[in-house]
Amino acid sequence: MHTAPDLFADDPARPAALSLGPQAVLLRGFALAQAAALLEGVHAVAQQAPWRRMATPSGHALSVATTGCGPLSWVSDRRGYRYEAHDPLTGRPWPALPPAFLAMAQAAALQAGFAHFVPDACLVNRYAPGTRLSLHQDRDEQDMDAPIVSVSLGLPAVFLWGGATRAERPERVLLHHGDVVVWGGVDRLRFHGVLPVEAGEHPATGPWRINLTLRKARY
Ligand code: SIN
Ligand code: FE2
Repeated sequence: MHTAPDLFADDPARPAALSLGPQAVLLRGFALAQAAALLEGVHAVAQQAPWRRMATPSGHALSVATTGCGPLSWVSDRRGYRYEAHDPLTGRPWPALPPAFLAMAQAAALQAGFAHFVPDACLVNRYAPGTRLSLHQDRDEQDMDAPIVSVSLGLPAVFLWGGATRAERPERVLLHHGDVVVWGGVDRLRFHGVLPVEAGEHPATGPWRINLTLRKARY
């Protein structure tokens, strides 16, 4: 199915911010004005740290293609999940956080009530049509006081927003190009995931959805 991108992005009936919990919020269109700069950053990062499909501990490949940037980035392989200062594919340090990523993460965190957010890791996920991310918690970080800032670019996707346990039935939240979700505090360990992305063509990203997740992995 072809998905018309951002059909409702400017709909005044869509509130700009949607509360997803006491300390979780969807900031609609918050990154729209910076989207081009963010995507330039993604391309620059992917030139230094190429897209790859990392293995899970069980030996399967993640369905999303990933790269990363910052002092640390998230790594998955047969040994498990962790943060590393070097890209295992190239052996080089991860590319630096593009300034536009840092500025966006801090502005969104502040808007969501988290002052002084200093991310040290950015995972960049690329979703091809049909690609999904199963329900999980972000729990590989040492610093659980810092929020997660998640920026959606390109094709829309349905975000699954669950509870504190896997058993809670997740809410479905449509994420568009330029939307930012921030969760922290009491909502920091909420389960979340992404339904299979529908095929489409987005003016900014072509056939893909790109997601930036900025975290503070270490104290
Ligand atoms: C993630 O949970 O790491 C990414 C979420 C998303 O792609 O929206
Ligand atoms: Fe996550």
